[in-house]
Amino acid sequence: MAEAVKIYDGAINKGLEGVVACTTSISSIVDTTLCYRGYTIEDIAANSNFEEVCWLLWNGQLPNKSELEGFKKNLKNAMHLPADLVEQLAKLPTNTHPMAWLRTATSMMGMWDKETEDNSEEANRHKSLRLTARMGMLVALFKRVREGKSFVQPNPDKSIAWNFLYMLNGIEPDSEMVDIFDTCLILHADHELNCSAFSARVTASSLSDIYSAVVSAIGALKGPLHGGANEQVILMLQEIGGMDKVDSWLTDALAEKKKIMGFGHRVYKNGDPRAKILSQMSERLTKKMGHPEYYQMSKYLDDKMQADKGLLPNVDFYSASVYFSMGIPTDIFTPIFAVSRVSGWCAHILEQYSNNRIYRPRGEWVGPTGLKYKPIDAR
Ligand code: COA
Repeated sequence: MAEAVKIYDGAINKGLEGVVACTTSISSIVDTTLCYRGYTIEDIAANSNFEEVCWLLWNGQLPNKSELEGFKKNLKNAMHLPADLVEQLAKLPTNTHPMAWLRTATSMMGMWDKETEDNSEEANRHKSLRLTARMGMLVALFKRVREGKSFVQPNPDKSIAWNFLYMLNGIEPDSEMVDIFDTCLILHADHELNCSAFSARVTASSLSDIYSAVVSAIGALKGPLHGGANEQVILMLQEIGGMDKVDSWLTDALAEKKKIMGFGHRVYKNGDPRAKILSQMSERLTKKMGHPEYYQMSKYLDDKMQADKGLLPNVDFYSASVYFSMGIPTDIFTPIFAVSRVSGWCAHILEQYSNNRIYRPRGEWVGPTGLKYKPIDAR
């Protein structure tokens, strides 16, 4: 066998670790500080709301009163799924993972959008609005169809957070739950060049349409090393089963070299600021809803992972017990991530289109070379 021909003599950054693939001004991570458009996540989470964050991510600055009012009105008007689309979506199988359903449903939504093939900035902003207004409607529709219940129409006078909980359960949500959920939406809205945003940008870089880019992102988010981790965290806590078993469970899991879901991060090495906010929410909510052991087990794992492995929790770790306490089914946790992150994906897609060059890296060839084709009878 001939020697492999080297096309590149530098180091290969497996998983593109440390590679800067583009410039961005949407969100930034420096050590433990996450900023959206220059504002810290702590500041935004304490003072803003998800609708305002969408505006911020798409426009680069906070809206004034009339801009926010106009934007909220447009979002509300966009909270509408065509009846014939709902009819088709209701026929999709629901015995799949909801992320698989959501990926298909988002793709179908693109087929119903008259502006899908219009790649002008104006049309892409309209579509960003529709995608963000409707992602939660799709997730709620999935849950309702799976339960054999009818679709709950949103209340256009209410926020995305309020409506998501309302459409999911068919009853008006409690205002504390809405506030907590709105904060969760803010915390998950964007995160620099994460795997799903990068997938969206790669697809957009071929000048494909925004729906195709968002569908790529949903596919990337689904994986357990990315958004799928929040679902795995609650399954892990349920497998552990109680405070009396948590220590031995963790010892065995680490001895078996298992990855502990919700820990570690490619970029944050000194802690994820979103996990700190979510940890406080988890402590409060698990106590209020009568299952404090979910927080206690989480806290134990957090302390022990930090002490023994130097690994800290990421955004998915405490969000799991928060969503669990809100009574949300486990397999809907990752779709919730998409309900929020679609705002960040759209911001990244708009940014990519505005300063585009197709992503086309190289792969270092390590297979055989110089082979000669053999007719099938001679093999
Ligand atoms: N549990 C146990 N060990 C972990 C770990 C975890 N959650 N995360 C990282 N490690 C260990 C790895 O085993 C590896 O150890 P080694 O060098 O001895 O082989 C080291 O830490 C580096 O991890 P690696 O997987 O190479 O880091 P990465 O940057 O490629 O991956 C994640 C980052 C987030 C994918 C990874 O930490 C992970 O899989 N976490 C669990 C899934 C998760 O929570 N995902 C949500 C991310 S927001």
